[in-house]
Amino acid sequence: MNNNPIGLFDSGMGGLSVWKEIRAALPSESLIFFGDGVRCPYGSRAESEVLQFTVEAVERLIAEGCKLIVIACNTATAVAIDYLREHYADIPFVGLEPAVKPAALTTKSGVVAVLATERSLSGRLFVQTSAKYADKVQIIKSVGHDFVEIVEQGEECSARAEAAVRAVIEPIIEAGADRIVLGCTHYPFLRTTIEGVIGDREVEIIDSGSAVSRRVAQLLDENNLRAAEDHTPDYRFITLGDENYLKQLQRRAYGCCSKEKA
Ligand code: DGL
Repeated sequence: MNNNPIGLFDSGMGGLSVWKEIRAALPSESLIFFGDGVRCPYGSRAESEVLQFTVEAVERLIAEGCKLIVIACNTATAVAIDYLREHYADIPFVGLEPAVKPAALTTKSGVVAVLATERSLSGRLFVQTSAKYADKVQIIKSVGHDFVEIVEQGEECSARAEAAVRAVIEPIIEAGADRIVLGCTHYPFLRTTIEGVIGDREVEIIDSGSAVSRRVAQLLDENNLRAAEDHTPDYRFITLGDENYLKQLQRRAYGCCSKEKA
């Protein structure tokens, strides 16, 4: 069991940002990444659909023998994590949540921005977490319009990406935010473009990647599930998309994130 894989699930390629962190932090662990790829984006879909798609993916990852599952998608976590923990009590789950806490605790301006999908920002998890800090800091909620599509199409370095990022980031900075939380696993692929728009202004970008890999390690230890140190890991990718999508997933997991740099 211990050498069985860790499963990761996302609506598409975004969860690869989490896959990379886990692979780097836990080099003996085999990983299976399930990127839907056909029904992405999930962020503007009905809760019932996101729940159904997530349950289907989890069933598949369990059938593949996964010992722990990471819902590498903030949107699917917001909708489905309670259901999954209740209905698959034998499997440890790690979900993705916007890293509001480190942003709220370190902001100097008292204004933080959270970028995420509509579904994540309206979810109970986010509403509860942000309420904890609402009396201390101002939290600006912002949807990264077109961000997910840009990443799925490998256009992070395009003029389209720069315009989409500028349209979202400029108003946030003008409103005084000095911390920008990336609350969607697709958004770290746009980090360089976001940094370009920020320029030399004192604004820090925060994502959940390293916190998630630490949580995975902790849960493996708690459940005595760590792979043997000398285990040679195996990396597999599953998608509902076509052969070409599968190739994109593999290419982007190991390499760069854009068409231009391919
Ligand atoms: N990557 C996902 C997230 O973290 C979902 C993006 C989408 O499918 O809309 O929220």
